[in-house]
Amino acid sequence: MFEKSNERSEKPLVKLVVVGHVDHGKSTLIGRLLYDTGALPPEKVAELEAVSLRRGMETEWSFALDAFQAERDQAVTIDSTQVWFSSSQRDYVIIDAPGHREFLKNMISGAADADAGVLVVDAVEGVREQTRRHGYLLHLLGIRQVAIAINKMDLVNYDARRFNEVSLEIRQYLAEIGIEPSIVIPLSGRAGDNIASQSENMRWYDGPTVVAALDQLQPSSRPDSQPLRFSVQDVYKFDARRIIAGRVEAGTLKPGDEVLFSPSNRTAKVRSIESWNRSDTPLEARAGQSIGVTLDEQIFVERGSLGSHVEDAPMLTTVFRATLFWLAQESLTLGKNYSLKLGTQQTSVQIQSITRVIDTDSLAGRDAETVARNAVAEVVVRCRSVVALDEYRDIASCGRFVLVDGYETVAGGVISMEGYPDQRSAFAVRATNITSVDHRVTRVGRATRNQHKGGVIWFTGLSGAGKSTLAMQVEQQLFNRGYHVYVLDGDNVRGGLNANLGFSPEDRTENIRRVGEVASLFADAGMICITAFISPYQADRDRVRSSAGDSFREIYIRADVDTCEQRDPKGLYKKARAGDISEFTGISAPYEAPSSPELLVDTAKNPVDDCVAQIVGYLESEFGIGPAEVVPSIKLVDQR
Ligand code: ADX
Repeated sequence: MFEKSNERSEKPLVKLVVVGHVDHGKSTLIGRLLYDTGALPPEKVAELEAVSLRRGMETEWSFALDAFQAERDQAVTIDSTQVWFSSSQRDYVIIDAPGHREFLKNMISGAADADAGVLVVDAVEGVREQTRRHGYLLHLLGIRQVAIAINKMDLVNYDARRFNEVSLEIRQYLAEIGIEPSIVIPLSGRAGDNIASQSENMRWYDGPTVVAALDQLQPSSRPDSQPLRFSVQDVYKFDARRIIAGRVEAGTLKPGDEVLFSPSNRTAKVRSIESWNRSDTPLEARAGQSIGVTLDEQIFVERGSLGSHVEDAPMLTTVFRATLFWLAQESLTLGKNYSLKLGTQQTSVQIQSITRVIDTDSLAGRDAETVARNAVAEVVVRCRSVVALDEYRDIASCGRFVLVDGYETVAGGVISMEGYPDQRSAFAVRATNITSVDHRVTRVGRATRNQHKGGVIWFTGLSGAGKSTLAMQVEQQLFNRGYHVYVLDGDNVRGGLNANLGFSPEDRTENIRRVGEVASLFADAGMICITAFISPYQADRDRVRSSAGDSFREIYIRADVDTCEQRDPKGLYKKARAGDISEFTGISAPYEAPSSPELLVDTAKNPVDDCVAQIVGYLESEFGIGPAEVVPSIKLVDQR
């Protein structure tokens, strides 16, 4: 039919999405556009005319897309089907069909990767709810080239005044979300006014026709010049070779390149690029191409791995911010497990929190416990395993995702890492040729002599929640009771060991990594090590937990931001509010409260003495050992 394969022509290719409120005439506009540009074969036109005649109506151009729709419904394996047409200047592809039930899903999942959007508005009805919502989606997806088609001008007698009213209404809305339409065109899809030829019915309009306006749009620059992202789809054994099959999402890949695969953090050199549909071996692969590569080493690579160059790697994280578009009938449930699909990566995730829900009509944001169908929300997503990603604004194809519940796609979204660290350095082990040695003095030996076990007592909470105050008093009381105890305090450690770290997300992660390692050593040495750090990220605390093992206890020193701000012992909240401290936890940087700490101490409700007693009591019961467990000193060391 009028679809054609993605063969290259000399003309630049522009990818379009056509959006707008239901019944505002998207299909008719597209059908007419296909007809006027000669993209419909004569037999198709004859068929349309016959069908329309039978129904006693004028030629119904939207039927052109119905046939297309029927084909699409049978093509189970194709994510999005594309309609092609050409002007003398450009080749165009309209991604997906309007009214198609998968349309929004494809648009936000990136199956539809458009250069420009055409927003159709009915001249009679004016701007409606979906006009705004779709406009907002264009904004969300970063589609900056938007042409407005004010359709059905024939129904308002080609009235210039009505055109100006609707034009103003849509311009005002788009201006609020930062979109300036490249053109607003009065037209009639049904009557063919201003589609490919200037309308005789609107002499007051001297702007371009739809086709002329489209010809002025810029094809988006191909993401070849971006950092390399190679998304692995599968690994095949072929002859004696192992071929890593996948798609170059961004950048350029060449034989000889050293490629780092994330999140496994393994590197190998590309020996060759293999292409399915050519006999020679390509010398490079560019963004958009599906290829196979062979590597010089048999490193572990699997579906979901993301290849990059070593010096320009994606971020690794277990948490990210997202702007979500909720598609499912059933509202979003906090804490429920959804399946995240990000390129070929897949993992279980939960929505940790909803920052705000955006009303796409009024553009107002509000707090909410849930997100209903068709709503847009800013959320924090927590992943069960580490994922490799980019921010949407940097590399679109690696910064967007869908959430799946069972078999249903429930949401699509775009990623921002604002306030959250790249955790890559926390996973890296640079040293090689390392062999660890065993101590001869055992843990049991130390514990027996000390009369208590060693431990990492991890205090977390906002600045001003009382971590340092409580830590120092607990230290004193335990010391007086004979415990070997020491406090590592944020402000102290940041003057020495961590003097080279600031408060960026990455620096905080490194701060906690180092302190976690030091505290684990203290615990191993038999001491009770209390740490007093904000430690705002759950992932960092979890990492300490796994490195310290069963001696780790998380104690949440809880006080809400308002309480801490009232106390403001160091005057820092005041400075933060005045804008003198950036990225201040609780004000302009995130704090993730522990979901299941071993102990919760509420300093907003309870006096200091009670809190100290609560902690001391807990630690004595967890780490103290009674005289019955004393063993002879000969057993305190390993007798090798
Ligand atoms: S953490 O986030 O990396 O865990 P840490 O506990 O070491 O922070 O240090 C927090 C202390 O640094 C606060 O109590 C406060 O005195 C000081 N501070 C200075 N700048 C900031 C900031 N931007 N955010 C939070 N605390 C800050």
